[in-house]
Amino acid sequence: MSGFSADWLRLREPFDAAARDRELTLGFAAALKHRQPEQCRIIDLAAGSGANFRVLAPLLNVDQDWLLVDCDPALLNAQAEEIVHWSQRETWRCEKLNQSITVHAGMSTWRAHAWSLDLAQTLDQLDFTACDAVTTTAFLDIVSADWIETFCQRLVRSQLPLLATLTVDGRRVWTPGHPSDALIEAAFRRHQTRNKGFGPALGPLATTQIANRLSAAGYTVTTMSSDWHVGTMDREMLRRMAEESVAVALETDPSAAALCDDWLAQRATQIDAGALTLNIGHIDLLALPSAQ
Ligand SMILES: C[S@@+](CC[C@H](N)C(=O)[O-])C[C@H]1O[C@@H](n2cnc3c(N)ncnc32)[C@H](O)[C@@H]1O
Repeated sequence: MSGFSADWLRLREPFDAAARDRELTLGFAAALKHRQPEQCRIIDLAAGSGANFRVLAPLLNVDQDWLLVDCDPALLNAQAEEIVHWSQRETWRCEKLNQSITVHAGMSTWRAHAWSLDLAQTLDQLDFTACDAVTTTAFLDIVSADWIETFCQRLVRSQLPLLATLTVDGRRVWTPGHPSDALIEAAFRRHQTRNKGFGPALGPLATTQIANRLSAAGYTVTTMSSDWHVGTMDREMLRRMAEESVAVALETDPSAAALCDDWLAQRATQIDAGALTLNIGHIDLLALPSAQ
């Protein structure tokens, strides 16, 4: 288990979809078209239950073969179920065979293959020479500088485009403010740089690190903000974020229990009254090799 449940990924999926920068996605689609593969082969790193596939596949307009890589068996199992429900809602036919699922969507066919891999330990098992592009969503903030270096070397060697969306950048604003927000957010920032299996996590610095590394290798790199706007009516998400914030704060500073209780009680009252919003900063990154 990775600590990310299928329920949580289902809850965040519409916020991610609304926040993504559309221009960068279209730039990614155009880069793939430029490569003119008969069937576009994409590796999605830390795919979870397949949200990135569900957003991007309909926008790419070619036949596609996706490798959805994750280390969490529960999320890998959830991929097929989520993709089947999505196809049914869209009235597309889909077929499941072992770890693969194929969606027949009008003029194009998209195959998604679930692959269990610990990216912290065995990134070298991914064959970047056998794919046309790499994507990832809501993942890079947990990796380390060393991991990014190895990943970028492999990306550059194969001159592959990268679309990395929804990487947190450390900005979080609760409105209205509360006197303990600074304490809660400072704890969150400390937590972001803890080791999550890849070495010290880069947290909010991840996108800058990857942008600098790929720019130096001759890539054209574009970043755009892709913030979550969690509104007054998004009560379930507000509750989850408030509870998670307090849990993280207590993990890093147990002596703050009384302040955290008070903060959470006030936030719960505001959520029930439809009087709280939350903005969470994210960044999308598109990196294209020089030939594109
Ligand atoms: C916030 S979730 C994002 C999932 C998915 N990309 C999405 O947008 O819904 C982070 C993902 O990273 C995966 N992950 C964390 N550590 C990993 C590792 N060492 N190897 C592979 N996947 C990992 C988790 O299992 C989880 O699916």
